[in-house]
Amino acid sequence: MAETSKTATLTLDGKTYELPVLSPSAGPDVVDIRKLYAQADVFTYDPGFTSTASCESSITFIDGDKGELLYRGYPIDQLANDSHYLEVCYLLLNGELPNKTELEDFEYRITRHTMVHEQMHNFFRGFRRDSHPMATMVGVVGAMSAFYHDSLDINDPWQREVASMRLIAKLPTIAAMAYKYSIGQPFVYPRNDLGYAENFLNMCFSVPAEPYKVEPALAKAMDRIFTLHADHEQNASTSTVRLAGSSGANPFACIAAGIACLWGPAHGGANQACLEMLREIGTVDQIPEYIARAKDKNDPFRLMGFGHRVYKNFDPRAKVMKESADEVLDLLGVHDNETLQVAKELERIALEDPYFVEKKLYPNVDFYSGIILEAMGFPTSMFTPIFALSRTVGWISQWKEMIEDPTNKIGRPRQLYTGATKRDYVDVTKR
Ligand code: SDX
Repeated sequence: MAETSKTATLTLDGKTYELPVLSPSAGPDVVDIRKLYAQADVFTYDPGFTSTASCESSITFIDGDKGELLYRGYPIDQLANDSHYLEVCYLLLNGELPNKTELEDFEYRITRHTMVHEQMHNFFRGFRRDSHPMATMVGVVGAMSAFYHDSLDINDPWQREVASMRLIAKLPTIAAMAYKYSIGQPFVYPRNDLGYAENFLNMCFSVPAEPYKVEPALAKAMDRIFTLHADHEQNASTSTVRLAGSSGANPFACIAAGIACLWGPAHGGANQACLEMLREIGTVDQIPEYIARAKDKNDPFRLMGFGHRVYKNFDPRAKVMKESADEVLDLLGVHDNETLQVAKELERIALEDPYFVEKKLYPNVDFYSGIILEAMGFPTSMFTPIFALSRTVGWISQWKEMIEDPTNKIGRPRQLYTGATKRDYVDVTKR
C-alpha cells in the first residue's frame, strides 16, 4: 500500500483536516483515518462496514462491478478449471503457485495430518444425534485447542504453520464425522491413498460393510466446490476470525469463531436456506408468488442465494457452479431435477424483473451449490459444513497474514452512543 500525493480534506467546526489517501494495487483508493480521532476528536460511522477497509491484505481481490474474483491475482474460473484445491491452499497460504516439489511436499504433509486425536471421537457422543452438524463442528474445532498444545503459540512461526496444516487437513475429517454421527453410522477413517476431495467423499459415504469407490468426476466436482469457496476477502466470517485473532486467541478458537459466524443464513447458511426455499417453491408455476414476496417490504422473505454485499454484477463463482451443476446432474443421470428447473427459471425471471435489476441482485455462490451437493447425496444440513471446511484455508491464510503484520493490534471499534446520559441511581422506594 502506498501513500499517494492525494489527500482528502475534512472541514469540521471551522477546522480543516488533511487525511492521507492510500493507493491499492487494485480497487478503490483508501482514505486513511487512523489519526482522525486523535486529531479531530470524532469517530466515523459505518455499521455493516459498507465503506470501510478493515485491513491491508494481498490475498484475495474482488471487483463487484466486473464480477471478478482473484486469489493472489489468479482468476477464480481459471483456478476452478485448471488447478485443484490443495494447490489453491498452497497459493492462498504462501502467495505463489508451488513448483512440483513444493506441491508434492505440501500434499504429503496435509495427507498425514488428516486423522484426529482418537479421544476426540468422544466429543461427538456428547451431542444429540439430531444436532446440526455446524453445532458439532463449532464444538469440536474449538476443542482442538484442548488437544494440539504444540501448535497454540501464535508467536512461533513453526507452530502457526503446523496449526494451519492441521486445520486444513482435519476439517474434512471432522465434517465427515459430524455427518456420520448424525445418521448413526460408524466414523470412517481418512485414507492416505486418496486425494483430498476423494477422501472426504469416502469418509462420508463409505461403510465398513462393503467396498466403496468414489466416482472420479464427483471427486473433481467436489474439489472444484472447495476451490470456489476457499476465500473471499473480508466477508463476515473472515472478519470474525481476524477480530478473534487480534486478541491473540489460538488459531483453533479463531476458526471455531469463523464457523459460528458462517452458520448464519445471510452468510454461509444461505446454501442450506436456498435449497429449502427452492423445495418450498416446488414447481415453476409457484415462482411468481415468491418473487412478489421477495419484493414486498412488509415480508421478511428474501430470495436465498441471491444478492451480495460486493457483487453488483454476477458472482463469478455462481457461473462456474451452474456449469458444474449441469455436469454433475448429467453424470448422475438426474435429468428431470425439478429443483434445478425451478432454480434456472427463478434466475431467469429474477434477472428480468426491474426490482432485481435495479437493486443489482444476482445469484451468488450459494444459489447452485446446494443442487450439486444434494445430487451427490448430502443432506441440506451438510451444505454449510462443506462451505466451512472449504473456507478454512481462507480463514487461516487471512489470520496468518494478520499475525505476521507488524502493525497488527487488537481490533476495538467505537460506537455512536445514543443511550441515556449520566444520571444518579434512584432507590426502589422512590421510583
Ligand atoms: C455469502 O461477503 C461475502 O463475501 C459472503 C460470501 C463469501 O464467500 O464469504 O460471498 C458468501 O454469504 C453469500 C451471500 C449469501 N446470502 C444470501 O444469499 C442471503 C440472501 N441475500 C441477502 O440476505 C443479501 O443480499 C445479503 C445479505 C447477501 C447482502 O445484503 P446487503 O449487502 O446488506 O444488502 P441489503 O440487505 O442492504 O439489500 C439491499 C437491497 C434491500 O432493499 P432496500 O432496503 O434497498 O429497498 O436489496 C434487497 C434488500 O431488501 N435485497 C433483497 C435480497 N438481497 C438484498 N431482496 C430480495 N431478496 C434478496 N436476496
